[in-house]
Amino acid sequence: MKHIFQKGTDITAPVLVLFHGTGGTERDLLPLAQAISPTSSVLSVRGNVLENGMPRFFRRLAEGIFDEEDLIFRTKELYDFLDQAAVEHGFDRQNLVAIGYSNGANIAGSLLFHYQDALRGAILHHPMVPLRGIQLPDLSGIPVFIGAGRNDPICSPQETEELQKLLSEAGSTVAVHWEQAGHQLTRSEVEAAGTWFKTNL
Ligand code: MLT
Repeated sequence: MKHIFQKGTDITAPVLVLFHGTGGTERDLLPLAQAISPTSSVLSVRGNVLENGMPRFFRRLAEGIFDEEDLIFRTKELYDFLDQAAVEHGFDRQNLVAIGYSNGANIAGSLLFHYQDALRGAILHHPMVPLRGIQLPDLSGIPVFIGAGRNDPICSPQETEELQKLLSEAGSTVAVHWEQAGHQLTRSEVEAAGTWFKTNL
């Protein structure tokens, strides 16, 4: 997959894996990595799907209605890519923390929903429930930060609470940070994610 890898100054710090929102690229979230853990190595990935020319991590049928077959296929493709990238770039595959926004948060959520060992933690900015009706793996010891907007028209507060419940029931410790804003990523949400990272990872 198209990506950027930047080696950090602290090779024991979690490797931050970045997933952009719809229409973004692997460059978008680099400032977030710098804000959250400036000494970490960073792997920033571009989604393999194009929607009217806009990169995404999986297909959707309409806003908020996901192509589940493609979501499962792309989640496995990404999981395999993380294995390969660890070998290619020489980082610790067991020490990955995702940072995703919107569609990127949804693919990171899908990694958690499908694989016990994909990530050791995740910061999900404005995620949705990636899919329903599956048994999640045991996520004990995998903390998750969710940033959400009370007025987010894409990720409703009810859906945020449903995601929190599903992840918690699977054993994850989930922190939800609420903004009064909508779907946009605010500076105060990034600061909250940074504080959470320092105490949980
Ligand atoms: C998605 O398709 O993953 C969500 O609706 C968020 C987005 O618009 O990308």
